[in-house]
Amino acid sequence: MQVKKLAVLISGGGSNLQALIDAIESGEISAKIEMVISNREKAYGLTRAEQNNIPTYYLGIKNYPDSDERAQALNALLASHHIDYVVLAGYLSILKSETIRQYEGRIVNIHPSLIPKYCGEGFYGHHVHEAVLANGESESGATTHFVDEGVDTGKIIYQERVPVLADDTAETLSERVLTVEHQLIVQTVRDLCSGSI
Ligand code: GAR
Repeated sequence: MQVKKLAVLISGGGSNLQALIDAIESGEISAKIEMVISNREKAYGLTRAEQNNIPTYYLGIKNYPDSDERAQALNALLASHHIDYVVLAGYLSILKSETIRQYEGRIVNIHPSLIPKYCGEGFYGHHVHEAVLANGESESGATTHFVDEGVDTGKIIYQERVPVLADDTAETLSERVLTVEHQLIVQTVRDLCSGSI
């Protein structure tokens, strides 16, 4: 079986990206990360990629102020490297329809909540954890799903729960959720690349 080519899209720290890099390195995932793309120029995930000799690209508001041109640049980049799967690993921007249609069934996202709770427009990163705490939830978690043209509405792949503790802050809850995210993203990309999902 040919090794699948991945594009990983990030916006921040890239701990989910790191989990993928480690799982590929250990042989758990049979794939190659062809490129890491960030919509934030200073995302630490870009440094993680560089440290692992993975080509990085910044496609953001500075070099592509026009969102349609930015989307075209993304599509061209993905096409030129014959990317099999696009992994949104903490990518805090919304993909345009053209990209989603082009890669239907081949784009996955990780979200830090138990979808359908705390997802959709405005629910990303720490906002999710703050809302979970504000509502006094007793549990939260993470979800991987295929990306469709809605926001966090695509078919769920895997989901994992974590408890919310009485003294949690958004930071401590985020850390607990990230621990399961790292497992989920690896399982998801592993199973995607092996053809079992
Ligand atoms: C993760 O918690 C991820 O689920 C979230 O951003 C964080 C990125 O962390 N994504 C979203 O909220 C998408 N709606 P990382 O950069 O350390 O992987």
